[in-house]
Amino acid sequence: MQDFSDPVTQFSHLIEALNELPLAYIHLMNGMFPLDDFPHYPKNVIETFGRISKHLVIANAGFNKESGEAELEKGIARIISYGSLFLANPDLPKRFELDAELNQPDEATMYGGGEHGYTDYPFLEGSDQV
Ligand SMILES: Cc1cc2nc3c(=O)[nH]c(=O)nc-3n(C[C@H](O)[C@H](O)[C@H](O)COP(=O)(O)O)c2cc1C
Repeated sequence: MQDFSDPVTQFSHLIEALNELPLAYIHLMNGMFPLDDFPHYPKNVIETFGRISKHLVIANAGFNKESGEAELEKGIARIISYGSLFLANPDLPKRFELDAELNQPDEATMYGGGEHGYTDYPFLEGSDQV
């Protein structure tokens, strides 16, 4: 979301209000646009808002295996969610486990059209999945 005059104050208030609710988790997404024009935006959403949440935090946006593990080491998020890497790698957990090469997501086929780019990324060779 863009165009907030004071996002840290506003969303800190929201996170604190959410702390009063019996939620299973909150899912925080780092910004995916350049912050040059938004110097008042938090550089790291997970650290800024995750630290004040009492709920289990899921961190999202831009993570790979290494950066996801490094994020977990910080002790704020307990789960990393993967979007485009999971789309391109239907067996992503197995590939992480094996340190296998990843299929690269193709942005051209991500947001519409037919099934191409949604159901035809290959599984690892020898995988028992179909
Ligand atoms: C094909 C595709 C469709 C997406 N659709 C939505 C959506 O409908 N709503 C939403 O909030 N995020 C959507 N996202 C964003 C993802 O949930 C996620 O936040 C984003 O991909 C960043 O994570 P990543 O770096 O692991 O890909 C979509 C992402 C992809 C790749």
